[in-house]
Amino acid sequence: MQPSNRIYHVDALEGLKKLADNSVDLVITDPPYNIASPSRRTFRKGKPVSTMKTMGAWDCFHPFDYDVFIMRILSECFRVLKPGGALYLFSARQDSGFFVRKAVERGFTYRNQLIAIKKNPMPSLHKRNWRNAFEICLYVSKGTPRTFNFLSQHECVNVLAYSNAQLHTAHPTEKPLSAIELLVKVSSRPGDLVLDPFMGSGTTAAACKKLGRNSLGFELNAKYVAMARQRLRRIKRPEHPTSGTRAAA
Ligand SMILES: C[S@@+](CC[C@H](N)C(=O)[O-])C[C@H]1O[C@@H](n2cnc3c(N)ncnc32)[C@H](O)[C@@H]1O
Repeated sequence: MQPSNRIYHVDALEGLKKLADNSVDLVITDPPYNIASPSRRTFRKGKPVSTMKTMGAWDCFHPFDYDVFIMRILSECFRVLKPGGALYLFSARQDSGFFVRKAVERGFTYRNQLIAIKKNPMPSLHKRNWRNAFEICLYVSKGTPRTFNFLSQHECVNVLAYSNAQLHTAHPTEKPLSAIELLVKVSSRPGDLVLDPFMGSGTTAAACKKLGRNSLGFELNAKYVAMARQRLRRIKRPEHPTSGTRAAA
């Protein structure tokens, strides 16, 4: 399997196994965080509901199984990345240190961690803890990164601020398109192949299509695959994509 601009309805590990070594320029992915639970509650349309109901059973693992799953994903991503390729991996806040250690153990070079700040976080139901207003994204590379388009001092800060007010689909954990576009612009070139093994609503593929990159993704839930494919049909690929860097003044 190596055709690009496709979203396959397949388990991430199965899909990854079919990819050739050193074949992908960039990985951007947002795997299950293993934070959904039948007893933890959040809001949906103003009403309290369990996080398990809002997200789905795909986010529930035994903690040991989750660790093994993430380690296998990291190993496969390292294998399929070309030397100089980079990986952006979102995680739950409590797991970010674990992700860093496991990525380095698997051969990645630690580069940075990005904080994605939500401008409109969920309200607190019980008012006994801080509201959750940020997520963490690990940035690592396979050796020295081949591409880092430093757009500007203002844009290349490891804090991404976004609002969830403008979502494109009904996926429960759709990532903000502008934040993913920034990662694509900075860490890839036009025509590069970008992989997302947990495609969800297709945000990574949408950013790639808008910016003239190729994408490849996997998604286990047939409903989300259909959602992502429909979303992509609405996006036009640019005729002359740019590298993302500003022209020198
Ligand atoms: C956090 S969501 C990704 C959301 C995505 N970033 C977006 O913007 O829509 C994780 C996705 O992984 C999918 N998933 C869970 N386990 C999977 C597996 N083993 N293989 C492939 N996809 C899986 C879920 O169905 C879910 O859509």
